[in-house]
Amino acid sequence: MTDSTYEHHEYDVLIIGAGGAGLRAAIEAGQRGLKVGIVTKSLLGKAHTVMAEGGIAAAMGNVHPEDNWMVHFRDTMRGGKYLNNYRMAELHAKESPERVWELEQWGALFDRTKDGKILQRDFGGHRYARLAHVGDRTGLELIRTLQQKVVSMGTDVFMECKVLQLVHDAEGRIAGCVGYWRATGEFVTFQAKTVILATGGIGRSWKFTSNSWESTGDGHAMALWAGAKLIDMECVQFHPTGMVWPHSVRGLLVTEGVRGDGGVLRNSLGERFMFNYVAPMFRAETADSEEEADKWYDDHSAEEEADKWYDDHSAGRRPPELLPRDEVARAINTEVKAGRGSAHGGVFLDIASRRSAEFIRRRLPSMYHQFMELAGVDITREPMEIGPTCHYMMGGVQVDADSEATIVPGLFAAGEVGGGMHGANRLGGNSLSDLVVFGRRAGIGAAEYIEAGDAATSFDQGEVDGAIKEALAPFERTDGENPYDVQHDLQELMQDNVGIIRTATELELAIQKLDEFTDRVKNVSVKGSRAYNPGWNLATDLPSMITVSKCVAMGAIRRKESRGGHTRADFPNADPELGKLNFAQRSEGGHWDSPVSVHEASILIMPAELKALLEEDQ
Ligand code: FUM
Repeated sequence: MTDSTYEHHEYDVLIIGAGGAGLRAAIEAGQRGLKVGIVTKSLLGKAHTVMAEGGIAAAMGNVHPEDNWMVHFRDTMRGGKYLNNYRMAELHAKESPERVWELEQWGALFDRTKDGKILQRDFGGHRYARLAHVGDRTGLELIRTLQQKVVSMGTDVFMECKVLQLVHDAEGRIAGCVGYWRATGEFVTFQAKTVILATGGIGRSWKFTSNSWESTGDGHAMALWAGAKLIDMECVQFHPTGMVWPHSVRGLLVTEGVRGDGGVLRNSLGERFMFNYVAPMFRAETADSEEEADKWYDDHSAEEEADKWYDDHSAGRRPPELLPRDEVARAINTEVKAGRGSAHGGVFLDIASRRSAEFIRRRLPSMYHQFMELAGVDITREPMEIGPTCHYMMGGVQVDADSEATIVPGLFAAGEVGGGMHGANRLGGNSLSDLVVFGRRAGIGAAEYIEAGDAATSFDQGEVDGAIKEALAPFERTDGENPYDVQHDLQELMQDNVGIIRTATELELAIQKLDEFTDRVKNVSVKGSRAYNPGWNLATDLPSMITVSKCVAMGAIRRKESRGGHTRADFPNADPELGKLNFAQRSEGGHWDSPVSVHEASILIMPAELKALLEEDQ
């Protein structure tokens, strides 16, 4: 027990984050008889999970029977440009189908094939149609299903609670955390035998992002401060298709399902430009003419109740629009820079000329609604204007692949906050499967850690007091800077200098400016009370945002090559030697303004039987 005067709760397993990974971990730990609490900065049901719209990847073989875990593993490793933790990719490919069938059992309403199986759609980088989906609302259905299960189990869920910092015990094991209620500003402590981080990503550090306000990298930063390692932080995913117009919604996701269902990309000259950007690695499987690509779309049309899907099981050579996201985002960026972009700095995504209005409204209802309501564009008649948007963080907390344990005893991480699974680039649809595969495994890992009997027993009140003092400091400064100004400048800086294409000059500038931002954050001031004070809430998010932004820039300057989501204009090719390394980062001091060191870490050596699955590509 603590002698804290703050509200205090105690759990076996405390989960920070209520997206897919957090909820799945909670179910697993709860089913093992543990006392589980979930803390979320936002509301239950509102997480970046919903932005994985087009589907959950799992080699169930419902559309292409020749699909299996080995092809999924190969696709995932190839998509990640072989930087992935192979063991995570292996577990993910093997276990995803089981997790999807489990969701189905728990009530998820997937779209169906004509014989009643779960329907699977095409997505970039997947050899076969592999994404189980619910129209273009798959993430929403996943979270709805998991949430219902968690609620039915009676799990405690603490909403609108911002966690400031993890707390250790006297031996350096994780013992819980300290935070505050957004509604009142009152502080609260959670003591726990284990903490599972499931806090999602970091996209709010960029100006154009599909991420909502929650994604400020809190879990990444807290893990680093607490002693864990971050890996692959230079690997940030820019999804090729976000809205570019109107400005107020720039960055909002346009699902890859549009391309999976037949949408094609054109520049302002009307050219299908993706044919010009097929990397050698993908050439054998990619159509090389519009005619061939059109035939593929016709053969894969779900228009006539999917009859053709079954009649023609050959996967065929895929249209270049279905290359992995890093390839497509870079191509769009190049077209726009070459002056072949749309009026608002994007390119055109056209499904209207390829599919019937009824098909589009049935398969892509959210996209139809989103463009109609927000942009006044009827996507059944006109093309969409789209461009890349910061969507996903491949880098994250280094974990043991099987248990999701970090190097800090008692601390686990799952979902987007975890690193390694996706390497240098994630394939679409692999995030939802990652959440449920590794969310479940983190629940098991936490349970086994507790069972081993070595969990924390004390709670460092000094760490709690220190975190609270710092959180309150902005109220004590009378003439400091507005936190929104710092956030605005940070987002501009990251967008302009640590974006899709990077150079040493830009990265050096970013690192220097980020040091200045550290001083600016120490000088922010806020007014008013602590109750629902958005300025103060942001002031407490800024240390995480600055920390993770620095880690991204520092990783990016060290990786002198182009690989996956990390592209260096000054090192345009992949370097085979760097392909053998992850860059790992640690805090040298454990405070948010402590220096961060970058270390080289050899990627795991793959067993021969798995290597053989990749050999044809390398
Ligand atoms: O485009 C999408 O629907 C996003 C999916 C994902 O990020 O996995």
